[in-house]
Amino acid sequence: MSTYDVAVIGSGPGGYVAAIRCAQLGMKTAIIEKYSTLGGTCLNVGCIPSKALLDSSHHYHDAIAHFEEHGIEIPGEVKLNLEKMMERKASVVSQTCDGVKFLMDKNKIDVYEGVGSFKDKTHINIDKDGETQTIEAKKTIIATGSKPANLPFIELDKERVITSTEALKLKEVPKHMIVIGGGVIGLELGQVYRRLGAEVTVVEFLDRIIPTMDSALSKELQKVLKKQGIKFHTSTKVKSVERNGDEITIKADDKKDKEIELKGDYCLVSVGRRPYTDGLNAEAAGVKLDDKGRVEVNDHLQTNVENIYAIGDVVRGAMLAHKAEEEGTMVAELIAGQKPHIDYNLIPGVVYTWPEVAAVGKTEEQLKEEGVKYKEGKFPMRALGRSRASGDIDGLVKILADEKTDEVLGVHMIGARTADLIAEAVTAMEFRASAEDISRMSHAHPTYAEAVKEAALAATENRPLHI
Ligand code: FAD
Ligand code: NAI
Repeated sequence: MSTYDVAVIGSGPGGYVAAIRCAQLGMKTAIIEKYSTLGGTCLNVGCIPSKALLDSSHHYHDAIAHFEEHGIEIPGEVKLNLEKMMERKASVVSQTCDGVKFLMDKNKIDVYEGVGSFKDKTHINIDKDGETQTIEAKKTIIATGSKPANLPFIELDKERVITSTEALKLKEVPKHMIVIGGGVIGLELGQVYRRLGAEVTVVEFLDRIIPTMDSALSKELQKVLKKQGIKFHTSTKVKSVERNGDEITIKADDKKDKEIELKGDYCLVSVGRRPYTDGLNAEAAGVKLDDKGRVEVNDHLQTNVENIYAIGDVVRGAMLAHKAEEEGTMVAELIAGQKPHIDYNLIPGVVYTWPEVAAVGKTEEQLKEEGVKYKEGKFPMRALGRSRASGDIDGLVKILADEKTDEVLGVHMIGARTADLIAEAVTAMEFRASAEDISRMSHAHPTYAEAVKEAALAATENRPLHI
């Protein structure tokens, strides 16, 4: 039987990063993955394929809607080849997954394919095609991730009533896609199919889309997506989803408790994700789950069993790839006797629609709830030279700073490339910058980043330069 210092169960961004960091720190490491490709949800059916389709559909939409204004004429009709778009996406995914395999080999990490389940707290069975092998591990890191959640009354047939996994590989553009849940997945994939020509209707239970983000972002994003033709029903509670042949009928109660009926040919259910521990046999090791089915961990991501840790989507907190990665690194370093720390307040959140939405720190709603006195500085993207040059004029940057100390408490942005711009805000907040600090830093001209400087000027002394 092979013996390891550390065994990692699950090869998503949490698991594979944990394995690399363990190996870097000199530990003999194994990683167990039930699928034949490494990379987990993120690489196979999450971040990477969704971004590939967002990019491809963006090009298509630009060719149809924006090339002409730039003086680019396409003789004849711009045509969509969905099969080729999907093939490109599949090839991006497979190259990225192969990259993870390369990293495992480079770091001399043993990769086991099969379902990992605890035999006891130091032994793991690995089952594949009816055969079982057992390894011994001094420490184990559970990184088994998450799966799409569903509503109890919806039957997911995975053909027309689908989750994100199926939506990433449709063989046709829906005529009318009804999206249940106006969160990240619903809006990103809704925008993909809207750009490809589908009618898209989003039904959201709460009173605004992306409800966990600052409400200024929800408002601006909904306004822009509406302009792009996406329809919204907020404060609307879906009651039933029925399929009859190719037709899907959705019944829901709107904000006035009046029943509405929507008909479409596809229904994307994107109401969140649930932690995944099926088949793990956590009980055999004595590992406790919490009331939401997540592996319960302390501040050191340690379970109730001393030598077993858990990270990523399967534990509390945001279900984000970079959060899982930070936790993977943290656990490896803890096992090696170091004293790492994660500031969860500084994990940014991004929605990769166009315009992109990005945020870090506290929202205005949170500051109000916590009774913190704050100042606000806002700057619209349309006032930037860079935005006018590209034509991407939608959006804004909003900075919230402590009323007395001027320390930046939250940065919220929507606009072109804000997914990348948010890194500046994370850096500033990591070093506990004041809004004035940001406002006095030189930002290259012309860039979208100038909006961050301008919003900081607005927050610190209410003196933006270009508005
Ligand atoms: P996962 O990536 O879910 O990996 C868990 C792995 O464990 C899986 O490969 C699974 O097969 C394996 N496994 C489970 N049980 C066992 C077992 N018993 N034995 C062996 N293997 C097992 N996040 C972002 O930050 N940015 C994005 O742009 C983004 N886009 C997304 C788009 C979509 C459509 C979806 C669905 C998600 C997206 N996410 C994004 C979320 C991101 O994918 C997850 O937060 C991230 O993958 C979590 O990483 P993880 O390592 O915890 O788990
Ligand atoms: P989500 O939590 O982002 O959004 C779910 C939405 O569904 C919420 O707005 C919620 O109010 C709504 N909802 C819940 N029940 C409902 C009901 N009965 N009827 C109508 N609406 C309902 O979850 P989503 O979009 O499924 O994504 C899952 C996870 O994947 C998220 O936690 C997210 O962090 C991650 N992800 C991250 C991405 C990114 O970072 N860009 C991209 C895609 C996914």
